[in-house]
Amino acid sequence: MNQLSNHKARGSALTTLVGGIVILLAVLFFLVKLANSNYFSNVEETTTSATETRIMPAGSLAMGDGTPIGERTGEQIFNKVCIQCHAADGNVPNAPRITNNGEWAPRIAKGFETLFNNALNGFNAMPAKGGQADLTDDELKRVIAYMTNQSGGNFEAPAVGAAASEAAASGETAAAASPATSIDGKSIFDTTCVACHGATSAIPNAPRITKNDEWAPRIKKGKDALFKSAIEGYTGPSGSLMPAKGGNTNLSDDEVKAAVTYMVNESGGKF
Ligand code: HEC
Ligand code: HEC
Repeated sequence: MNQLSNHKARGSALTTLVGGIVILLAVLFFLVKLANSNYFSNVEETTTSATETRIMPAGSLAMGDGTPIGERTGEQIFNKVCIQCHAADGNVPNAPRITNNGEWAPRIAKGFETLFNNALNGFNAMPAKGGQADLTDDELKRVIAYMTNQSGGNFEAPAVGAAASEAAASGETAAAASPATSIDGKSIFDTTCVACHGATSAIPNAPRITKNDEWAPRIKKGKDALFKSAIEGYTGPSGSLMPAKGGNTNLSDDEVKAAVTYMVNESGGKF
């Protein structure tokens, strides 16, 4: 009886010992794995991108993927910076919201240079560069073009990686090049004019597409008068403003004429 219990005790002591050794080996095994892993990051072995992110000046835009300053796309910048106030569902007073054509239309009508200068220097509650001081001029142009082009505008942005091209953003190049072969008035309407002339637009006095009665007195003025108003801009008797080329100075005269023709023909006219 006594011997039996002694035997049992020795057995369980042995089990404990073996178990202890197994656990010890397991712990050693994991310690060795840990020492060889990159858990404690080795400076020489980190990626360039991580290094770039680490050496960025304080307050600069950490894109996570280490995109260098100057090369960030409009979309990247929007989603990091401008979205704070210009989000589609934002509620910052007066900040025009992305994809909200009605809110952007009067801004777009100011022309790209004005928007750029106001975003660069600040404008009322709009902080200079949206508060992101390290944005380059091209980056700022890119993000303005990104925002406005999602909101009824049609601006050209400086390409990423290309040399700074002032002309591209200010629209000096875009239009003239292509001769008026097959201009699609509808697509111009859909990108530039719809913000104010859409069938459900709430812009005062802007004649709305498909509303024949709103267009009838305009159509009476004749084709040339309407082309002139649309190309050069026009202020109505009540002071409402039709901005030159709908605010999109990238458009050629022929493109504006095509958009007028499209609108008029959808609204009881025959140009
Ligand atoms: C802290 C909030 C805030 C941030 C961040 C911000 N904006 Fe704005 N932004 C505003 C407000 C408010 C207005 C409207 C100002 C007014 O018309 O009184 C505005 C207006 C603008 C306008 C129209 C200016 C005009 O002439 O009508 C542009 C363009 C613009 N923002 C671009 C940007 C860009 C690009 C960024 C990101 C780099 C950005 N904003 C980030 C608040 C912000
Ligand atoms: C920012 C708003 C806005 C945009 C964008 C806009 N328009 Fe207008 N447009 C107006 C307003 C407002 C009027 C009416 C002015 C008035 O008579 O009071 C008008 C009037 C017109 C007229 C009639 C002019 C006349 O002599 O009676 C034509 C034609 C016209 N727009 C064409 C266009 C075309 C083409 C586009 C796009 C390329 C365009 N508009 C984009 C606001 C806009």
